[in-house]
Formats: sequence, C-alpha cells, structure tokens
Amino acid sequence: MTDRKAQGIDATNQAFIRYDQVDKKQEYHLAEGRHQEAFDEEIRIRTCDVGRSLHGGEAEQRAFARELGEALRQIGFAILEGHGVDAALYREAEARTAQLFSGVSMEEKLRFRARRHGSVNQGYFPIKETSGIHPDLVEGWVFCRRAFDLDGDPAFRAEDYWPRPGMEPFFRQLCQAHENLILPVMQSLLRYLGCDPHLYDEKLTRTNFGQRLNYYPPLTTEDVESGAGRMLGHEDVDLFTFLPAASVEGLQILNRANMKWIRLHAPPGSIILNTGDYAQRISNDILPSTTHRVSLPRDPGLRRQARVSFPMAVYLWEDEVLEVLPGLGPAKYEPIKALPFHTRITSKYYGDDYAVSE
Ligand SMILES: [Fe+2]
Repeated sequence: MTDRKAQGIDATNQAFIRYDQVDKKQEYHLAEGRHQEAFDEEIRIRTCDVGRSLHGGEAEQRAFARELGEALRQIGFAILEGHGVDAALYREAEARTAQLFSGVSMEEKLRFRARRHGSVNQGYFPIKETSGIHPDLVEGWVFCRRAFDLDGDPAFRAEDYWPRPGMEPFFRQLCQAHENLILPVMQSLLRYLGCDPHLYDEKLTRTNFGQRLNYYPPLTTEDVESGAGRMLGHEDVDLFTFLPAASVEGLQILNRANMKWIRLHAPPGSIILNTGDYAQRISNDILPSTTHRVSLPRDPGLRRQARVSFPMAVYLWEDEVLEVLPGLGPAKYEPIKALPFHTRITSKYYGDDYAVSE
C-alpha cells in the first residue's frame, strides 16, 4: 500500500481540496474509525413519491418538484418511493453482483482493470484500489453506457466489457429501469429552481452513466483493526446518483448544518437519490453535493457478511458545458466542459496526470 493510501486512514478531505471544482467548506475524515465523531440521530431523510411525477398531472408534478427540491437543497439526499422498479429486480441484482465478484477469477477480473475512457475510469477496481488516497475495503466494477447494448450499435460486443457476457442483458435491464427516471428527476429539479423543466431533456436523452457494482467482502479482524472504511468519504462527481437501498448497513452522510454523520436507513425496494458535483455547479450551490461514505456495520454478525450495492451515476457527455442555470443570481462559477471538470476532480483519486484539459 502506498503511503498516500495509508495516510488516508487519518487524513481529512481538506488535504485534497485543491482538486475540487465546487465549493466544499466542510472538513471530515475519509474513514470512520479512530476519530471522535458525532452522529445525528434526529434528522430524517425525506421520502418523496416519484410516482407523482411519473403518473400525476401538472399539480402533482409541481408538488413532487417542490418536495424533492427542498429535500435535496437541505441535505443533498432524498429517498424515492413510487418509482415502479420491481423489488425482485434489486434482489436479483444483489445476487448477480455477488456472483460477478466471487465467481470470476482474479486473473480474469484483471483483464478488465479500470482505465479512463472519456471522463470516467471504467472497469474493475481491486480491493483497496478504488482510490489512491484511502485503502477502501471494496471491490468495484464500473460499466458505462458503452458497456451495454442500448443503442443498437452493430459493433457492440458484450465480451469487451463483461467477463461473463451473459450478465449484460440483466444489468442492462437494471440500467433501463433507472434511465426512465432521469428525465422526471431532472425536470423536477429544474422546475424547483425556476427554470424551463425541459432545458436538459436533449442532453440527458441517451446520456452517459456509470453503473457501479460494489462488493464489500466480509471483514477480517485485520481489516477492522486497520481503521480503513469500506468506502472513503467523498462527494459524487455526477449530476445525481440512483442508489437502490442496500440490505447491509453502512451508508453515512454528512449533515453540513451541524457536521454530524447520519446513518441512512432506506427501506428495501426504495432508491436513494443524491445530487453530485455537476448539480452543485449548475445550481450555483443551491443543490449541494453531499459527503457520504460506507462504514463498517456496528453488529459484528453483519461484519461477517458481504455487502453489495449498485449505484448508477448520471453523467453528461464529455463535450457538454456545465454552466450555472439562468435566474440563480450572480454565477459563482465559470462555464466549463464536463471533461476537464470531471477529470480534475477525480485526479484526486487517480493521480494528477489523470486530469484532461480538453
Ligand atoms: Fe458516492
């Protein structure tokens, strides 16, 4: 393990703040563990019924936009119900994700080792290799739009991305289910911000996304004693993320209002939605990109179980320009293309030479 990574167990985000492209005043440790930290047991993350936007009339859509906008403005996170995605699909995704990581040899996995393509580092990340600044106790795999047969490209080959090409149709179905929610959510956010709700319709039709599969293996005594977290504290570098509720606890989010951590419990079958750095930038800081991390379960029994999650990060294509939306007061940020914006931030994790200017 490099020193940089070992230091990450005790480091705070402020050591890496120069990479950020939106304002982040909060200071926090990358991992829970050796630090005295306060937990917020009071606050409840708001649950919003996205069915009101999907099936409701104008008044229902407006009410949903207000509800969602307020939840995100306050804390950057909301829980979506009424989305219509079958809970059985999530149960199957859990099983198939576990199968992907435990049923494929390391040699095969390493053939797909993550590499940058466009803005995003895509492919397989071995345990403790998700970032270069903290030894995250997770194995991950990132599949972007090009890893799915979504656009009728005759040259598409699942075997270029998947160690088991037969897994592509299932995970494609999962992505399609969430893809259906992209426009309703973005239209609601734009409506909340007082903008034309359809301003991003074109940019977000067949947009890029990152379907990340996370496999957190059962924890050893050595893991627990190392002080490392399952995933370091971070903010998402995207517009927003859809994260189906996990069955093992771990997700914590930082309440900037009191600098306490919130253990987020979302009901099975619900989707956690959070805004990322792209959203913070274009909303002129109205919709925050909120810090979150995955910590070890408190129950020793649960620590002996693997944990699985499958967040979908919604991106804009590399050439799109991130510009503060109209009517939000003096712009705090200059317009910037998604490619330099994204890679400057993520060079925090992958090394300075990861950043691309144009
Ligand atoms: Fe995240």
